[in-house]
Amino acid sequence: MKKVFVLGSINMDFLFTIDHLPKKGQTLTGKEFSSLPGGKGANQAVAAAKQGVETYMIGNVGDDALGDELIDKLKSYQVKCDYIKRIKDTSSGLACILLENNDNRIIVNPGANNIHDIEYIKKVLEENANEGDIFLTQLEIPLDIVKKSIKIAKSIGMMSVLNAAPMKDLDQETLSNVDLLCVNESETKALINLQVDDTNIDQAFSKIEKLGPKTSIITLGEKGSYYKDKDELIYTKVYLSQIVDTTGAGDAFTGIYLAYKILGEDTALALKKATAGASMTIETMGAQNAIPNKEMIDSFLEREENK
Ligand code: RIB
Repeated sequence: MKKVFVLGSINMDFLFTIDHLPKKGQTLTGKEFSSLPGGKGANQAVAAAKQGVETYMIGNVGDDALGDELIDKLKSYQVKCDYIKRIKDTSSGLACILLENNDNRIIVNPGANNIHDIEYIKKVLEENANEGDIFLTQLEIPLDIVKKSIKIAKSIGMMSVLNAAPMKDLDQETLSNVDLLCVNESETKALINLQVDDTNIDQAFSKIEKLGPKTSIITLGEKGSYYKDKDELIYTKVYLSQIVDTTGAGDAFTGIYLAYKILGEDTALALKKATAGASMTIETMGAQNAIPNKEMIDSFLEREENK
């Protein structure tokens, strides 16, 4: 059975629900507070593992109590944690998430996520991954590590997937080694300097293709998503949901989509399941805990189809 290896961030999310952002010099009392596991890499690993795919997390946490909690949670979602390192005298990654109306604003303190050793990543992938396995990463760890690890994954014959979040300066060599690029609206704007919508989607994909990736997915929030490879363009509409917290919805989409692809699902159906999973994630506070498993997605889609 094929496996997914996720290299990325592991954070503890501190979520504050507020009526409005504080003004300069102002102290504001929040309405609600939760501390829940997150981090783009860890969320995507959880999303894939919850669909029943063998998923390995490569990342770091500090030698603090949060690190214990973050690893325990990942294990509880069946994510394999053998390649997570504890970094001495360093704090685990933290994210302060301000939830205002239906939007979120995130400030990250990377902590242990900033300390990576490419030789270790190379060893883990070369000793454990096989041709056809998926290598998935994001941009919440040092860029240099992302670039080198994508190259290593390609040399092993893995399918390399980059969720370019948050967007950083990517070079053509790295993008040419990316088999699937996943970006949202603002990341697309940063990458190709185009405000993408359904009227210029072809232009967006052709600009991205010129940069290297042959297959890409552009997610447009409540406006749905577009998938493009050399043969087809697929639009997937979103399902209406009660927004509680949008944190981790994009991560749910990416992890779930890849899980179904590796399980052999047809692309359109994998996209549909990923979209359903993302819609369900925003109905609950938090990221990892809110991501649905296979059974939950199946019954959600069944309900939607019978509406
Ligand atoms: O994508 C959502 C994630 O971004 C949060 O869980 C937070 O940790 C930040 O990394």
